Amino acid sequence: MKYVIANWKSRQTLAEAERWFDSFCQFYRPDPQVQVIVAPSFLCLAPLWRRLQQNAMAHLALAAQDVSPFPTGAYTGAVAAAMLRGLVDYVIVGHSERRRYFHESPQEIANKVREARSAGLKAILCVDQPDLHAQFAALSEVEVDDLMIGYGPRAAIGLDRPQAPETITAVVAELRTMAPGCPILYGGSVNADNAARTMALAGVSGLLVGSASLDPEEFARVCKAVATPGLKS
Ligand code: PGA
Repeated sequence: MKYVIANWKSRQTLAEAERWFDSFCQFYRPDPQVQVIVAPSFLCLAPLWRRLQQNAMAHLALAAQDVSPFPTGAYTGAVAAAMLRGLVDYVIVGHSERRRYFHESPQEIANKVREARSAGLKAILCVDQPDLHAQFAALSEVEVDDLMIGYGPRAAIGLDRPQAPETITAVVAELRTMAPGCPILYGGSVNADNAARTMALAGVSGLLVGSASLDPEEFARVCKAVATPGLKS
């Protein structure tokens, strides 16, 4: 299975998200080999989930961009994994922006992985240097085996320049030794023009797309490139 994730980050109001969804439905051609995952803000999850029920788009699922490291309880402002159950199948944890701006530690992120697992949600663990080894050390073998990994080098995020292909393949190979059975995705300046060649890199099972996922037509082109990396988009 291959994966493409649209990470909208702190962007898109509910009205914009609904327009995006309607537009994406016109361009999207589901492929049984490609799981497409859209990660909007928490606020948009329930309305988009309802839309997905009405429009039943194949191979299209929702993800939360984050989850509380605590269970349900007296934790003001937090969204617990149990509250997401039924709305999403996936939860992104440890994105480099969470580590950088919200000062999340490897241990806190490991707690989020634990919470996601206990609610039956698949954790998409984002990793980068310098926390890579500390992050895996904070997780048990069973927890690691169950992950999807997103390699998102901070230096390549939000630009027009993905990381050098040889660096991506070297880090992906290293990640493969730490998480042998897990799908490994690359994220950092992926767009419709470079998606096919990024997917063609050894060991890359999918793409994490930020800025380029905000345009529904472009994101549909990324999905197509992932489905058929040999075709020009
Ligand atoms: P970008 O973000 O596509 O805007 O570089 C990617 C990411 O945050 O994973």
